[in-house]
Amino acid sequence: MGHLFNRNVLLGVTGGIAAYKSAELVRQLQERGATVRVIMTRGAMEFITPLTLQALSGNPVHTELLDEEAEQGMGHIELARWADLLLIAPATADLIARLAAGRADDLLTTAALATAAPLMLAPAMNQQMWRDPATEANISTLAARGYHLVGPAAGEQACGDIGPGRMEQPVRIAEAADQLFPSGLLTGKRVVITAGPTREALDPVRYISNHSSGKMGYALARAAAEAGAVTTLVSGPVSLPVPDRVRALPVESATDMLQQCLDLLGDCDIFIACAAVADYRPSAMEQQKIKKGPEEITLQLVRNPDIVAAVASSEQRPFTVGFAAETNDVLNYARDKMQRKNLDMIVANDVADRSIGFNSDQNAVTVLWRNGEQALPRAGKDSIARQIIELIAQLGGKR
Ligand code: C5P
Repeated sequence: MGHLFNRNVLLGVTGGIAAYKSAELVRQLQERGATVRVIMTRGAMEFITPLTLQALSGNPVHTELLDEEAEQGMGHIELARWADLLLIAPATADLIARLAAGRADDLLTTAALATAAPLMLAPAMNQQMWRDPATEANISTLAARGYHLVGPAAGEQACGDIGPGRMEQPVRIAEAADQLFPSGLLTGKRVVITAGPTREALDPVRYISNHSSGKMGYALARAAAEAGAVTTLVSGPVSLPVPDRVRALPVESATDMLQQCLDLLGDCDIFIACAAVADYRPSAMEQQKIKKGPEEITLQLVRNPDIVAAVASSEQRPFTVGFAAETNDVLNYARDKMQRKNLDMIVANDVADRSIGFNSDQNAVTVLWRNGEQALPRAGKDSIARQIIELIAQLGGKR
């Protein structure tokens, strides 16, 4: 069984000649343990019948957005929520254009907008259509939004042309879908992740903080839970939903975060410090609101404890992973930080590039460990998180 075991795959089939291969794809997905439901567009039904895909998937095929009966059963929102993956194979040029435009003019495009699940496309079209700048632009738009692409393959086409545009083989598509779910890698491991900013109170209404969104830490928690870990997030104040199967423990200040992490050490195999912890806090919190008065006031700050370093030097030391946001000489500073804080692994990101990292949905990092490193090129934070979790599982999960 692959990582798709127990996963719900919503398979979108659109109107291209490759639609006949979707029947085989249903089989391939099921062989890996997935439950499959199918949405067909009108075009798809010109090439293959719903009955074929219904018989293979063992579930009724969904075809209409505004069908009262269907909406009473599993309507478009339920379908979108049900899916752990929305896989569209074949994906025609027209479907790709409608997704890029954010249209919701049939059941499939509506489900694509309504789902929080990862989306994967297996494009299939004539080679000239694939090379057309409009398709190219649509594909890069979707890739930037985090869509996963598989194929197209190159070769002889149904229309007689030779070139890129053939739908990738069903077995390859199923493998690529499988890879999205590194489930099982951390089964039974207990993972604690710090995320978000901390707030250091000045008085009852004011605090010092930073712009950390918590997105990377939450993506890591999602990936760890998907990999089977018992996952706890120790989170500073953020406005993100808690991922499924993750326990979130809210904290405010660095001191609270440290205490919470130390309390969890007896139940922790892997510790990932992703929080943007304030380096300093006011030396004393005023009990009353500080009144406006003199033109100048001075704040006295004291150093906060280093949470990850404290965890890494504890007796029950878990496999400990830190982050290093640097603007220059990134890898050298990160390696130095890893040694200084006694970490097993450090994830370095270059924050000089404003389009990645802090507050953005994308990231590009290099993961360093004692005797190795691996660059993870720019991708959505969910994808980067899954790759980091995979590396942690390889290096530390087996301890
Ligand atoms: O020293 P610096 O803040 O650059 O180190 C970053 C790493 O250390 C991150 O993993 C961060 O979560 C962690 N850290 C911490 N406690 C602090 C400061 C940083 O756990 N007080």
